[in-house]
Amino acid sequence: MSFITARHIGKTFNGKNNSDPTVAIGDLTLDIEEKEFIAIIGPSGCGKSTFLLMVAGLESATSGELAIEGKPVTGPDHQRAIVFQEFLLFPWKTVKGNIEFGPRINRVDKGICQTLSRDLIRLVGLEGFEECFPHELSGGMKQRVAIARALANKPKVLLMDEPFGALDALTRETMQLELQKIWQKAQCTVLFVTHSITEAIFLADRVVVMGSRPGFVKKILTIDLERPRSRKIHTSHTFRRYEQILKESIWEEEEDGSWERVPALEKRSA
Ligand SMILES: Nc1ncnc2c1ncn2[C@@H]1O[C@H](COP(=O)(O)OP(=O)(O)O)[C@@H](O)[C@H]1O
Ligand SMILES: [Mg+2]
Repeated sequence: MSFITARHIGKTFNGKNNSDPTVAIGDLTLDIEEKEFIAIIGPSGCGKSTFLLMVAGLESATSGELAIEGKPVTGPDHQRAIVFQEFLLFPWKTVKGNIEFGPRINRVDKGICQTLSRDLIRLVGLEGFEECFPHELSGGMKQRVAIARALANKPKVLLMDEPFGALDALTRETMQLELQKIWQKAQCTVLFVTHSITEAIFLADRVVVMGSRPGFVKKILTIDLERPRSRKIHTSHTFRRYEQILKESIWEEEEDGSWERVPALEKRSA
């Protein structure tokens, strides 16, 4: 059995103030292996964030089954951590304080927390910035803190929702290289949502393309590129071929008109 199994997952949000319900995810089936790096791409509103929140245990499915290591997901668990595009750091805590926060509330011994944060600070390349506050850091550095904080509870699953979406292009490339290293060392399963096809190919073992009306798995592309991957890989023939395949898959969605954000139920009945 796979590490994460999603079987015919559906998710409908009830409409507020008597408005129509939104079918965010129609029928999604996906198997994910342990320590796999999965990138998820797809049009806005196809349910990518909703799916991640379900794996995190922060949203429940309205139909289907979602299990991790054979156990149904019934709520949040410190083995699953999430990193969002917004850094969501505590502004009043230092880098070290932010990273140690999770283990401290889980009553992990202070000395162990300090060793852990020292290791994580080294892992994400923030040595020398331990005592800085978030407002003193650049976007890339803030996201490094957010990743270290997510890793502080030693999660088996790291969920990342467009984590580099707010960064400039060069910082973003650096962060992709860093994330590859971090993932190889941390040995966890990653589900990574992105709008960038090249980012998805560069990072992932498999790229899942979601379609909308409502959300489903449209295509799964296995990325057969050696690791560690360097920036140069972007110009390789295989990389370009993957890019073409994914672009075509997404263009089909655009041509259907589903790239725009239209309530899923309307689209379905149209
Ligand atoms: N809490 C919510 N209440 C109502 N509708 C929601 C909620 N969260 C998401 N949706 C709707 O579900 C659909 C999928 O949203 P989302 O998962 O955020 O898509 P994506 O991350 O792919 O852009 C959208 O139509 C969105 O408006
Ligand atoms: Mg989203």
